[in-house]
Amino acid sequence: MRVLVTPDYRTLSEEAAALVARAIRAKPDITLGLPTGNTPLGMYEELIRRHRDESLDFSRVQTFNLDEYLGLAPDHPQSYHAYMRDRFFDHVNIAAENTHIPDGSPGRDADAECRRYEDAIRGSGGIDLLIVGIGANGHIAFNEPGSSFESHTRVVTLATQTIENAKRHFPNDANIPTSAITIGIRTILNARRILLLASDPSKAEAVERTLRDPISESVPASALRLHSDVIAILDESARQR
Ligand code: GLP
Repeated sequence: MRVLVTPDYRTLSEEAAALVARAIRAKPDITLGLPTGNTPLGMYEELIRRHRDESLDFSRVQTFNLDEYLGLAPDHPQSYHAYMRDRFFDHVNIAAENTHIPDGSPGRDADAECRRYEDAIRGSGGIDLLIVGIGANGHIAFNEPGSSFESHTRVVTLATQTIENAKRHFPNDANIPTSAITIGIRTILNARRILLLASDPSKAEAVERTLRDPISESVPASALRLHSDVIAILDESARQR
């Protein structure tokens, strides 16, 4: 894993967006794996700016999001569908039919949705560049500690710490989901290239364990060290001191 440490969050976001933009220019019909959370927000803003000011073209780009809460329909304001529309898709020239996010709608057959989603990723030819954040407990997408490195898209129960962290996004604590659909660790490792982003002191311990602890299912992000083309961009705040 190559590690780049930036002085601040803004530089992290610019470096991440520059890497994604270069990949799109090299392969205009690229397939991207996309994360949610606070960490990638600056990268999305910078990609939107590059679309506006530098004609970065998303018209042939395909995207697969990494995860979605189970029990939230795509029009739910706290769903990752809503996040992606509000924070990114509505501001660039991406075709709606080229964007893919697991459907966590209540009442749907979630296991069938997981199989459909994994098949759709495979059917697209696979993910060329997957961008992923990290949870304070070392999770990637919603692969919590203990997830098998051979896991594929599936329904998972969220860790207590993950539910606690999600509370800040759910007004009145109302109906915070306790499970999710996530692509698996094997699905992530199948991507041709991976970009890991980490910012904030709350991530420092998870980052340190990811980079230095023995590779183990107790630190899901440590699986990334098994991949031959991973770049981690951290800012100073995410470094352990
Ligand atoms: C959620 C997402 C993860 C994300 C993590 C960290 O758990 N499912 O994909 O990496 O949050 O989020 P943040 O960037 O807000 O710290």
